Amino acid sequence: MEPSRCPRLHEAIPMNRYDDIYNRLEHWLLTHIASMGSTNGGCRQAFELKRIHSLKVADETVAIGRGLGLEPPALFLARTIGLLHDVGRFEQYRTYGTFNDFTSIDHGDLGERTVAANGLLDDFDPFQREIIRKTIRYHNKMSLPSDESEAVLFHAKLIRDADKLDIYRVVSEREVVPGALPSQNTIAESLLEDLMAGKKVGYMHLKSAAEMRLMHISWIFDINFEPTLRLIQERNYLEILSAILPSSERIDAFVRKARQHLAAQKPPAS
Ligand SMILES: [Fe+2]
Repeated sequence: MEPSRCPRLHEAIPMNRYDDIYNRLEHWLLTHIASMGSTNGGCRQAFELKRIHSLKVADETVAIGRGLGLEPPALFLARTIGLLHDVGRFEQYRTYGTFNDFTSIDHGDLGERTVAANGLLDDFDPFQREIIRKTIRYHNKMSLPSDESEAVLFHAKLIRDADKLDIYRVVSEREVVPGALPSQNTIAESLLEDLMAGKKVGYMHLKSAAEMRLMHISWIFDINFEPTLRLIQERNYLEILSAILPSSERIDAFVRKARQHLAAQKPPAS
């Protein structure tokens, strides 16, 4: 587990402007989504899911950030990143009709270009702009680069935790995840072996809904901060996801390993 340190941020923006700036960005995002012209039902549903996801992830960055004891400037930055992290999704879906990065475009990279092209970060200083741009780019990558600044890595870890936390909400609430894989209950032995060995598995390697659920469970090992693990536990996400998995000795062993990892977290500091 990484230490929950946050490098001190420049306090270039007075605190009394945080709400104005955030509300302006939220208004821009909602207008942007509406402008993407979701005329058919499937498209509307896909955009609605991502709209709600963007707002919820912003809330989750605050929940995790508060658990880490972040100060207002860092919380404000984290919330902004949460709001904008999936800004590339809407153009991706409009252009390619899919959220699948491997058959269309990397939505993290596209999101970084979108915030720059629309002048969304004009209220931020260059240091903050760099953090926002890079964390949007990095939020969906398999792993983070090692040669980045402490501030970029901290906020990238925070958005990755918040994103996973809200994806847990989405996949716990529904049997069938929109755009998901065939609803088969088969799980390849090779996938289980990779997960048991601690390897990360990407969406492109999955062939069934059960494999996707198992990958979601494996994210427990890729959570960066204790407060995120506590929230996962409080909301019973692991229990909900594992209850709808097929049962076998090896699957059960992997779920047990995830459960032990979750249970090993420290209690909140009082
Ligand atoms: Fe994303």
